[in-house]
Amino acid sequence: MIPEEKVREVAERISIVEVVSEYVALRRAGGNFLGLCPFHGEKTPSFNVNPAREIFHCFGCGSGGNAFSFIMKIEGISFPEAVKHLAKKSGIEIEERQLTPNEKKNQDEHTQFLRINDLTTSYYRSILLNGQEGEPARQYLAKRSVESPISDAYRLGFAPDRRDGLVKHLKNNGADLDSALKLGIVRKSETGWYDLFRNRLIFPIRDSRGQVIAFAGRVLDAALPKYINSPESPLYHKSSVLFGLDMALPSIRIGNSVIIVEGYFDHLALYRAGVLNVVATCGTALTGIHSSMIKRHAEKVYTLFDSDNAGKKATIRSMELFLEQRIPAYVISLPPGDDPDSFLAMHPAEEFDTLRVKARPAFEYFVRSVLAETPPDSVDSKVRIIDEIVPRFRKIVDSVERDLYEKEICRLLGITVHALRKRMGGGKLSGNEDVEGKNTSIQPGDNVQDILMALLLNYPEARAEITNTGLESMFANDYLELARLVLANLTDFNSSQRLSQLAEVIEKPELKTLFSRIMVSDNYLANVEWRTVFDQCSRSNEKKKVASIKEIAAQLAVLDPGSDEYSRLLMQADTLRTRKSKL
Ligand code: UTP
Ligand code: MN
Repeated sequence: MIPEEKVREVAERISIVEVVSEYVALRRAGGNFLGLCPFHGEKTPSFNVNPAREIFHCFGCGSGGNAFSFIMKIEGISFPEAVKHLAKKSGIEIEERQLTPNEKKNQDEHTQFLRINDLTTSYYRSILLNGQEGEPARQYLAKRSVESPISDAYRLGFAPDRRDGLVKHLKNNGADLDSALKLGIVRKSETGWYDLFRNRLIFPIRDSRGQVIAFAGRVLDAALPKYINSPESPLYHKSSVLFGLDMALPSIRIGNSVIIVEGYFDHLALYRAGVLNVVATCGTALTGIHSSMIKRHAEKVYTLFDSDNAGKKATIRSMELFLEQRIPAYVISLPPGDDPDSFLAMHPAEEFDTLRVKARPAFEYFVRSVLAETPPDSVDSKVRIIDEIVPRFRKIVDSVERDLYEKEICRLLGITVHALRKRMGGGKLSGNEDVEGKNTSIQPGDNVQDILMALLLNYPEARAEITNTGLESMFANDYLELARLVLANLTDFNSSQRLSQLAEVIEKPELKTLFSRIMVSDNYLANVEWRTVFDQCSRSNEKKKVASIKEIAAQLAVLDPGSDEYSRLLMQADTLRTRKSKL
């Protein structure tokens, strides 16, 4: 653990402009420095560094944070590693502090867990390699052409058809069975301890550092379930583990891209064919955690899922995650009926590479599959297609890309861009304006929530006023969430704290973006009377509320006065009116 004071000392010693300058050519532009964003390709600079705030923000891709966030992102390292990296540069020595008794206890248990998994891996491995009991598994692997170097690389094993082989092995080696129970690999009944895996080929599941954190066991025949996996445990959270990441990292770093597959054997087949930048999910759909892990390591992702319906669904679902996280995603399509294993059994690796080169952008794949399902042969079907496509379309961040797809969709459907935009609700796409335009620095008269957020961040008195007025009446959605986070963390911070520290506690990417955007663009608020600005914002909010009273009145006119909806709206209008009269 790095002591908090040390982190702050490093933060004080470094200057974000110097840190960033090692990677990006910056020039001064008003209160900010400006350069080409290193996190996405761009030709006109939209990457801002604000020296006073110690925050960077890219209006093109939305990435932002403080100097530590920058180093984490550009070097692909963790927070403590980034702190150490910058400490070294500024000549600060870091002694890790002593653990508290509780931390010590957790660490000891963690070590015990890892030891148990190592014992388990080598136990299954020795059964596979030596003796009669491993024979069926050896035959199975031979049948699937898995030879020793591959078996070694994955540390494959075999769980014998015994009730308590692993239990005995762990006991003999002095391991604590209660800890093994927490890992789910052994269980306890009235008649005693027994193993989870029996008569199964074992794939150890490792984390990105190569430590075994769980196991998956495959039957040797057609019995069901095909796989049994370790349950969730203190070491293993399947929604945040990518199988094979440790083996893939060097190759991912070289090529800056990663291929995602769905099965252990898919991973193995590609590895055997020399395709190394591959990871697999562990019997679960791809999650947002997975995609943000991927984003940390690669600039581009390929999905390689089965060509069946389930695979298609998984492809589209993953596309949405990648759109949200702004990771360029491509779909590698296999011939119908093939999976990577069967394809590579029949074709040389070069042919797989041809498929990879021919991979289509995920969004195009999505549009094509919607069209394949619903041919655009009537007005009705066109409307259905547009309604299916639009929610995903909105998530495309890059405006050039969006323009291209817009044209393409219109061409395929035989409609005008105007008609498409109309269906989407006006020319503007919600949600993306912030990152779309390059000139989104807040100006007086701009988005009230931006201004209020800037006040909240910069003026302690405004903080109190906003809290008293009620956060919910001033902020909504992401703004509300960010405002809560800011207040929760600012109370702990003393007055000398740096606002840029907040970048370390904000986890959600959208909130990070919002935060850094406001921090690099609130210069004009530096010397204002916060009360005047606050009052302007309140009046503007109240005006909007008056407008909504009118809307409510219109709705009331068409509702049945006896309905629940009617009384709910009526109450809402009353509340608004009371608030207005207090002004
Ligand atoms: P597959 O059935 O495609 O398995 O399931 P596979 O790994 O490609 O194996 P082979 O080639 O048929 O032998 C894909 C993944 O789904 C999870 C596993 O992670 C598997 O690798 N899965 C599948 C389970 O967790 N449980 C199951 O019963 C089946
Ligand atoms: Mn498969």
